[in-house]
Amino acid sequence: MTSTHAAIDPRLEVARIDRRIFGGFVEHLGRHIYDGIFEPGHPSADENGFRSDVVELVRELGVSTIRYPGGNFVSGYRWEDGVGPVAERPRRLDLAWHSTETNEIGLHEFARWLELAGSDLMLAVNLGTRGTQEALDLLEYVNADADTALTRQRVANGRTAPFGVSMWCLGNEMDGPWQVGHRGADDYGKLASRTAKALRMLDPGIELVVCGSSSSGMPTFGSWERTVLEHTFDDVDFISCHSYYQELGGDAQEFLASGVDMARFIESVASIADAVAATKKSDKRIMISFDEWNVWYLHNDEGGQDDKPVEPGWPVAPRLLEDQYHALDAVVFGDLMITLLQHSDRVRSASLAQLVNVIAPIMTEPGGPAWRQTTFFPFALTSRLAGERAVRVPVTSGSFDSSRFGTVPNVNAVATIDDGTGDDAGVSLFVVNRSTTDAEALSVDIAAVAASLGRELAVVESHLLHDDDRYAANTLADPERVGVRPVPGVAVADGSLSFTLPPISWAVVRLA
Ligand code: AHR
Repeated sequence: MTSTHAAIDPRLEVARIDRRIFGGFVEHLGRHIYDGIFEPGHPSADENGFRSDVVELVRELGVSTIRYPGGNFVSGYRWEDGVGPVAERPRRLDLAWHSTETNEIGLHEFARWLELAGSDLMLAVNLGTRGTQEALDLLEYVNADADTALTRQRVANGRTAPFGVSMWCLGNEMDGPWQVGHRGADDYGKLASRTAKALRMLDPGIELVVCGSSSSGMPTFGSWERTVLEHTFDDVDFISCHSYYQELGGDAQEFLASGVDMARFIESVASIADAVAATKKSDKRIMISFDEWNVWYLHNDEGGQDDKPVEPGWPVAPRLLEDQYHALDAVVFGDLMITLLQHSDRVRSASLAQLVNVIAPIMTEPGGPAWRQTTFFPFALTSRLAGERAVRVPVTSGSFDSSRFGTVPNVNAVATIDDGTGDDAGVSLFVVNRSTTDAEALSVDIAAVAASLGRELAVVESHLLHDDDRYAANTLADPERVGVRPVPGVAVADGSLSFTLPPISWAVVRLA
C-alpha cells in the first residue's frame, strides 16, 4: 500500500467545462443503427421502430452531442438517399464497412431519435467522394430558414423548422489511406478551406471542425495538422483528434498508461495550432474536437492492424466491431475521461466512439435485452457528476516505468466544482489507480475548496469501479457481472477526504 497526497484547490482552474465534451458518435456501421437503436418488431420498439430500452440507457449515459452519420461511412454517403419516403430510398453499397445500406434511417429519423435520447446533432459532410456543393446542399436543407427548392423538400419530408445544427465536421479521417477519397494534407486543406468559406457564407453561425490525424501514430501526424491548419486557420473553430487504445501483448501496465498518451496527443495538437497562430500573428485559439476516442481491440498483438473486419458478401447490419469490454478496459476508459477534463481548456467537444453495439457502452440482442458494458459506468458517472469547472489536482503517488512514457504516476485525478450557494454547490473528484500491484491510500486536502464554497463538505455519493478479475465483463448471459459500488471506508475528517483505491480501479466521490 502506498500513501498518496492530493489537494483540491479552486484556484487551479483549467476551464469551465463545455458539456459537448460528453458527446457520442453514431455511425451507420454494423448493428449500430439497424438491430441496435432501430429494431421494429422488438418488444420495446415504439411506433417508429426505436427500441425504448436503448433510449433509456442512452439517457442514463448522459450523452450531450452525437456525431453522425460517420466515420468512414460518411466518405461515401449521399445524404439525399436518407430523406424522403422510406419505400423509395435506394439500397447502396457501403464501401467503408463492406455492407449494404438500406437507408431506412436518415437525417429525419435520426433527429427524431435524438429528441428521445435528449442529445444534440453534430453532422459530418462527405469530403471523400463529394465536395463543396453537396456540403452546401446539406447545410441548406438542414439549417436554412428561406423558401428554396431544398427547404421545400425538407418541409415536404415533414420538417418545417430548420434542424439548427451548429457543429459540422469537414469530412472524416482524410489522412487515412483506408478512407474513401483519402487525400494528402495540402489537397485536403485547400478543399476544407473553400468548403468552410462557402458553408459560412450560407450560415455564419455554424462551428466547423477540420480533420486532424486519425491517430498520433500516423506517419504524417504533426505535419498533417500544420499543413491543414495553414490552409484553414481562419475558416475553422476546431481540429479533430481520434485515438483508440487497447491492451497489447497482455501488458496491462502499459495499457494503463493510455491517459498519458492522450494527454500528449492533445498538448501536441494544441501546440501545433498555436504555432500556426503565431505565424499568422493571430491570438485565435483553435479548439480540439476529440471526436473519436475509446478502447478498441483493433490491432493484433504485434501492433499491426488486424484485417478489416468484414463478413463475406454485402450484408445488412452485420456484427462488426462488437468488442466486449472488461473491468480493466473500463478503468483505462475512466482515466481517458479524466484526461479530457484535465484538458477542457482546449478540448471543447469530444465524442465517445461509439454508442450501441459497435465498440459501445451499450449492447443489444435482436429480440432480446439491452445491457451496460463496463465502460458505461465511468461515462455515465462522469457525465452526471462533472460540474461547472474543472480544476487540476496535483498528486504525489507511487509510479511505474512505462516503455513509452518513462515514469508514470499511479494516481491521476481531476476535480470539478459547482460554485454557488444552493444545493447544487459541491465538488466531484475523479481518480484512477493505474498500478497493477499497489493499492493507494489517498488523503485529499479539501480545506481550500470548502472555504471557497463557504461550507463544510461531506461525502454525498461515491462509486468505485474495480474487479478482482480484471478481465470480468458484462455479457448477454451475465449482463450485471461488473458494476460500481460505494467506495469502501470513504470519509471526511479535519479538512481531509480519505479512502483507499485498490490496484486497477477508478472512482468518483461527490462532496457537498
Ligand atoms: O469508429 C470506427 C471507425 O474508426 C470510424 O469509422 C473511423 O472514423 C475510425 O477509423
